[in-house]
Amino acid sequence: MNAIARNTAVAALNLFGGSPDFNVYFAPGRVNLIGEHIDYNGGLVFPFAINFGTYLAVRENDVQLNRFYSTNFALQGVVEIDVDTFVKSDSCFWTNYPLGVIKEFYDRGFSGRGFDFYFFGDIPAGAGLSSSASIELVTAIALNDFYDARLQMLDMVLLSQHSENKFIGLNCGIMDQYAVGFGKESFAVLLDCGALSHDYVNFDLNHVSLLLINTNKKRRLSESKYNERFAECQSLLRIVNNAGYNVKSLCEIVDYVPFESIIKNDVLFRRFRHVVSENNRVHQTARALNDGDLSLVGSLLNSSHHSLRYDYEVTGKELDAVADIALPFDGVLGVRMTGAGFGGCAIVLISDDNVNAFKDFFDVAYSSATGLIPSFYSVKSSDGAKKMI
Ligand code: GLA
Repeated sequence: MNAIARNTAVAALNLFGGSPDFNVYFAPGRVNLIGEHIDYNGGLVFPFAINFGTYLAVRENDVQLNRFYSTNFALQGVVEIDVDTFVKSDSCFWTNYPLGVIKEFYDRGFSGRGFDFYFFGDIPAGAGLSSSASIELVTAIALNDFYDARLQMLDMVLLSQHSENKFIGLNCGIMDQYAVGFGKESFAVLLDCGALSHDYVNFDLNHVSLLLINTNKKRRLSESKYNERFAECQSLLRIVNNAGYNVKSLCEIVDYVPFESIIKNDVLFRRFRHVVSENNRVHQTARALNDGDLSLVGSLLNSSHHSLRYDYEVTGKELDAVADIALPFDGVLGVRMTGAGFGGCAIVLISDDNVNAFKDFFDVAYSSATGLIPSFYSVKSSDGAKKMI
């Protein structure tokens, strides 16, 4: 039995007291290899679930309260909320993530029972590794189990996204929840966000590592420009359809060049060029991985970052510093931001032999460029959300 899962159950019992009937569930975080800001435009994205995530020990109680505790927000203690109350909290913002999912179940008729929730997560907060989706999915699979609701994984993925859109207020796409739900050890998930279907792609990088670097620049997505980009894409869809194209999403378009005369606003045209070119890059990356052509994968990562920096404008000083510092280093094949941007993490594709020297060099160069100390994580692609105990 997994030691962390067992320890989480023990810690939950110590905190809440009473009967030891805790079940334990786990949901991972995710890293996106390529295909950024593409999910809400109906294209292809290429994430994988990682070996960091959220453990949740849950037990039913008989006090008509949902009681929440997280080791990541231990100072806030146990937060108690009446089982029929769904009001967003500003002071304990993290509790909105499980609460929104509980509300989704409530809206489907699964209600009236109170639970004790003990969360233990090792995803660094604000790193852009989907700690939110991880909390949502781990809550969803737990409630599905307790209520015997028999929802399929895709239903739970969709209701978690719906909660994030409607309860949290972030117009995110489906990528994070999907990767967290459907991840598979040793594989990446090539996800078609229009069709809501996926292929698993073997993620064997041979003698090359995918190094994850946290800029340690924190941001909260709902306060960032994320919703603004979403709205720009909605406007673009209207412009394209008003010009006589009949598309449901921007990613149905394969060439941006003919649209230069149609999309007159320069900012909007650059947003559009990112979406169309990034979607094409995901197709190319899948082919390159299949052919074992990692230098091509690397150069596609570089083009992706360039496009996110200059056309989509979601990188920022710290992520650009990572790209500028990392790229010229020996053995680096490619580097790009991953996730929503505006801070958080970047990935570096680098040959195994160069990793140690790179870290030493990068540490110094990044700190002097930004005043921040970077963190390095070595991540493995892992399984999606599941019951542990
Ligand atoms: C966040 C969102 C995702 C996706 C990425 C950008 O992680 O939650 O839906 O849009 O940003 O690719």
